[in-house]
Amino acid sequence: MKVALIVAMDLEKGIGKNNDLMWHLPADMKFFKETTLGHIVVMGRKNWDSIPFKYRPLSNRENVVLTRNTNFKADDCVVLHDISEVWEKYKKEEERIVFIIGGGEIYKQALASNLVTEMYITHVNKKYGAETFFPDFDLKKWNVEIIRLHEKDAKHEAEFQVNKYTLALPSTPCLADRQALNQHQKN
Ligand SMILES: NC(=O)c1ccc[n+]([C@@H]2O[C@H](COP(=O)([O-])OP(=O)(O)OC[C@H]3O[C@@H](n4cnc5c(N)ncnc54)[C@H](OP(=O)(O)O)[C@@H]3O)[C@@H](O)[C@H]2O)c1
Repeated sequence: MKVALIVAMDLEKGIGKNNDLMWHLPADMKFFKETTLGHIVVMGRKNWDSIPFKYRPLSNRENVVLTRNTNFKADDCVVLHDISEVWEKYKKEEERIVFIIGGGEIYKQALASNLVTEMYITHVNKKYGAETFFPDFDLKKWNVEIIRLHEKDAKHEAEFQVNKYTLALPSTPCLADRQALNQHQKN
């Protein structure tokens, strides 16, 4: 199982407001779609709610919604009730990447799990006064590569840059190893 994360954040690490995105950046939406297509996308129930009806479930991806509400139903989605159920369900997955697609609560829990080994972060060069934020993470643990730059233009209200962060060390590819590492770090 490979776990990656994809997010867009502003200069204050803001990711959302009023349960919605704060910008309209079609080239970044396209990047999100291209990157996650064919994979598994894991989202919190609030993120699910924020996606317009006509776009959900996200097409050609396995949509996983996390909620504590055991009565929650969403057509053509996998509904799970704890993030540990995600790791359990997909631990033998070899073809597809498990993409954590937010929002804030889910990013925080995914990062805390130490299972995320790759992050695609769109850095939007503007401040939006967000209500929801991406959690702090230790930059020293990640190798960074700039993979896209986009200028502000008629269709893009702000310039943005996409960075790919790859977990530097230790490289422990299998779940059992990473769980052992987590245990080690706790002790
Ligand atoms: N900029 C970006 O890239 C980006 C990406 C995604 C989302 N967003 C934004 O982020 C905001 C939403 O983020 P958020 O932090 O408010 O909410 P969220 O993370 O999307 O969803 C939170 C909900 O997920 C469920 N949940 C959380 N932890 C769980 C667990 N361990 N087990 C089971 N269910 C769990 C709960 O649902 P129940 O209440 O149903 O139990 C909780 O209320 C929106 O503004 C959205 O637009 C931005």
